[in-house]
Amino acid sequence: MSFPRAAVRHLERHVARQHIQGTLRTAQLGAALCRATASQASWRPSPRAGRSYATVSAIELEFGQPVHETHPHILKAGEITPGITAQEYADRRTKLAHSLANGGIAVLAAADLKYRSGAVFFPFRQESNFLYLTGFLEPGALAVIQKTGPDLGDYEFHLFCRPKDPRAEQWSGPWSGLQAATDVFNADSAHDIAKADTLLPNLLQSATRIYADLPSPNATVAPSLPNTIRHALPKPNVLATLQPLVNSLRAIKSPAEVAAMRHAGRVSGRALTDAMRRPWAYEKDLHSFLTHAFSQDGCGGEAYVPVVAGGPRGTMIHYVHNTAALAPGSTVLVDAGGEYGNYVSDITRTWPVSGRFSAPQRDLYEAVLRVQRRVVTMCRADAALTLDQLHRVADNGLREELTALGFQGLAAGDGGGMDVLFPHHVGHYVGLDVHDVPGYGRGIQLKTGHCVTVEPGIYVPDDERFPKHFRGLAVRIEDSVCVNDDGPIVLTAEAVKEVVDIEALRDY
Ligand code: GLY
Ligand code: MN
Ligand code: MN
Repeated sequence: MSFPRAAVRHLERHVARQHIQGTLRTAQLGAALCRATASQASWRPSPRAGRSYATVSAIELEFGQPVHETHPHILKAGEITPGITAQEYADRRTKLAHSLANGGIAVLAAADLKYRSGAVFFPFRQESNFLYLTGFLEPGALAVIQKTGPDLGDYEFHLFCRPKDPRAEQWSGPWSGLQAATDVFNADSAHDIAKADTLLPNLLQSATRIYADLPSPNATVAPSLPNTIRHALPKPNVLATLQPLVNSLRAIKSPAEVAAMRHAGRVSGRALTDAMRRPWAYEKDLHSFLTHAFSQDGCGGEAYVPVVAGGPRGTMIHYVHNTAALAPGSTVLVDAGGEYGNYVSDITRTWPVSGRFSAPQRDLYEAVLRVQRRVVTMCRADAALTLDQLHRVADNGLREELTALGFQGLAAGDGGGMDVLFPHHVGHYVGLDVHDVPGYGRGIQLKTGHCVTVEPGIYVPDDERFPKHFRGLAVRIEDSVCVNDDGPIVLTAEAVKEVVDIEALRDY
């Protein structure tokens, strides 16, 4: 069966526009995309034998990432990445294009594949803005979003990527190719990335403003595609930074994004709770248990290098060696989370290795927990607070709690070592990246759809300024939270955190 590509494109844009007007459901777009993708798998009769033979190789029917037709166990019809539909990607491009100046063009480069040595590469991770606007998960690609008029939907989406190449794909595994760029990823035009050097200057020539995020020309490792963009600029003074515009879109999560983050949080939270059920002798064993658990239920594995820090190693904020033995009687601080559909979960829990808190461990833990709970409840749009204001609530609350526990000189405003005891911010935005929307300030009032972490911590070094029985203890409690109109949605609630709940995990 074949379905004319131009007709699909027309339908997709038509559907996208209709959807923006709220009159059509995404299922129709999904169905159109199914037809489009199915058309790639056309079988033609052989003229010589009265039988049918495939005229395309298996590689031609493979894509550089799961699509619904090849991986229905991962993607529902209409989805480009888990939980996010083609319609939602089209809506994102529509909104971005609308925010550009008249005659503006946004140019985004895919991430490069990074090499460890020789031909041995690190796992590929797509550049987050490129991913947010395209859902295309390959290196060697450029996205160009060209505003063509003043109305919502007046834009062209050009995708430069690698054409199908069975010989190269025999080594690398499949990639998607130009046909899929239009039929699956809904580009208005697809081009060979090898021709970007010649085609991009033509595209950019007429732009009144070019939005891109280019690394400094002095960067030690200059990615190849940004150089292509730089060379294509008609005049450097038409260049504007793209990040703030994409940040404004990315910062407020859609219902589908919140659902993806809930899924990541649910699976990751359960993994942490399961880890707390059992005694661990080594940080490494606990780490590998979590790595496996973060790959369950459709999740994509670790969202970041986790901290698995026994005893005083928890006072080192980014301790990631995770190689030491866990001493009975000590606590373990674990900062770990998985991801689902590229959306991450950021969680920290601290618990006693032996399953029971000692008195000082419990006192310090409950002090941090009270503050953490208080700040979580303030993650609501009707409180109209900023992350910086939440930080001050946490800082003041921790000072009061520690003073009640016998710490000296911590009255609000005094130093007293608070810069050592609580050296980091109480939270950050979270989403496609653990530290999401870089450059988006913490002085912005939290609104419905903002997703943030709440992670107060107290790290007591072996220092005579602090009560002896707390020295060497480290407690951080972190949840990922979505701000809702009149209350928080705790995305990571399945990781237990009450003392009674943690201790009850070993009661049977
Ligand atoms: N896991 C990194 C952080 O909590 O910021
Ligand atoms: Mn965090
Ligand atoms: Mn964390």
